[in-house]
Amino acid sequence: MRTSLRTFVRTTLDLGDAVLHPWGREPAGPDLLDDLVAAAADPAIALWNPLPTADHQAARTWLEAREDGWDRGAGAAFAALDATDGALLGTIGLRWVDRADGLASIGYWLLPDARGRGLAARATRAVTTWGFYTADARRIELAHAAGNDASCRVAQRCGYLPEGVLRESHLFGDGRHHDEHLHARLAGDPEP
Ligand SMILES: CC(C)(COP(=O)(O)OP(=O)(O)OC[C@H]1O[C@@H](n2cnc3c(N)ncnc32)[C@H](O)[C@@H]1OP(=O)(O)O)[C@@H](O)C(=O)NCCC(=O)NCCS
Repeated sequence: MRTSLRTFVRTTLDLGDAVLHPWGREPAGPDLLDDLVAAAADPAIALWNPLPTADHQAARTWLEAREDGWDRGAGAAFAALDATDGALLGTIGLRWVDRADGLASIGYWLLPDARGRGLAARATRAVTTWGFYTADARRIELAHAAGNDASCRVAQRCGYLPEGVLRESHLFGDGRHHDEHLHARLAGDPEP
């Protein structure tokens, strides 16, 4: 097994109207911290992707954890930033589930104003390709709550094939365990 390659090395990915920039401690100005607090309060994020960033201190702790993930090559968390003004649009990240085996998972959320223009799909495609080619991922999984239709469409548009239903597999923001749809892409799958 080629475990030596299985690390995430900080990089910036250009999507044209947005850039994916590694999350870290810097720059963590008040606007960015405010945006992370606002993200935690957004109803869709609070339901499907609860964020522990209720205040500035919690947001700084969250950023420290993302930085630590990059330092250890264990997690690749990107801020999606507007290419024009640098405003926060959302986040997308890969993390190893089983690093030695090349098994990773991908997740994302967007702030409300950034939704509805296909950004999540474009970011997911870019990070997926990057994960396969630069980090030697073998399989990347994408799981979403069965009721999260927008996320299901993102998975389908990015070539993550449906593999089944995980029953009551994850506790979501409404305090309930929901079924999840499991999707995955293999390194050898065709580009969507
Ligand atoms: C899921 C999310 C990232 C999608 O990002 P997006 O860039 O806004 O996605 P789009 O607007 O391009 O929508 C993707 C598809 O879902 C469809 N869609 C959007 N909202 C929908 C809804 N409420 N119900 C059904 N379909 C929906 C869109 O029509 C689009 O379909 P298409 O591919 O046929 O054009 C975003 O909605 C979000 O951040 N949600 C809150 C957090 C979250 O759910 N994170 C994912 C956890 S797994």
